[in-house]
Amino acid sequence: MRINVVTIFPEYFSSPLETSLVGKARAAGTLEVVLHDLREHGKGAHRQVDDAPFGGGAGMVMMVEPLADALDPLDETHRVLLTPGGRPLDQDTLDRWATLNDLTLVCGRYEGVDERVAEHFIDEEVSLGDYVLLGGEVGALAIIEGVTRLLTGVVGNPLSTETESFRDGLLEEPQYTRPSEFRGWAVPDVLRSGDHEKVAEWREAQRLGRTRERRPDLLE
Ligand SMILES: C[S@@+](CC[C@H](N)C(=O)[O-])C[C@H]1O[C@@H](n2cnc3c(N)ncnc32)[C@H](O)[C@@H]1O
Repeated sequence: MRINVVTIFPEYFSSPLETSLVGKARAAGTLEVVLHDLREHGKGAHRQVDDAPFGGGAGMVMMVEPLADALDPLDETHRVLLTPGGRPLDQDTLDRWATLNDLTLVCGRYEGVDERVAEHFIDEEVSLGDYVLLGGEVGALAIIEGVTRLLTGVVGNPLSTETESFRDGLLEEPQYTRPSEFRGWAVPDVLRSGDHEKVAEWREAQRLGRTRERRPDLLE
């Protein structure tokens, strides 16, 4: 799979793209990430990509022209704009994108992006959550990680991505590993009982209880 990222800060991505399973997926050729420096399409000697907003107001807005120049050659790809005004990113969306050959992620900065970009160059707008970040790069990295772990062969045990939070609309149950007791805090007996049926029942009850308590919206 190839993921294009349009950003004014390509250097932001260097370490995360080399680290852990994303780094390995790139080395194995399962994932290709192409960073497009928006400044290369900037205007004038200063490679300007932003300008003051029509109608006045705080800050600067990313101009349509540099983004159009960057996105025109990527019009065969699925183009996604990171924006707080987008639909909240969820697992179903990542599942869908992980089946694509090409995905393009557009990172805003400043006060955001000229609306004509979203209208004419973008297939989907997504938000990382109900808060405002400095730019779309963190969101792009979240998407790269979320999609990469779904690509065949990236996560060692395929069951890991099938039995986890948000599958079946539930959060995952609590997990424990050795030691079985630490500072007097013991692992639930059932997990050490060797009774697989009871363990499965306990896990199911924990998933339901935890989801009801923390994320009742998922059960709706
Ligand atoms: C400072 S934000 C702009 C916020 C904008 N003025 C607003 O009120 O919605 C600059 C850029 O960061 C990115 N960004 C910030 N928060 C985000 C979020 N929650 N989800 C996705 N992208 C976000 C977007 O690309 C956005 O264009």
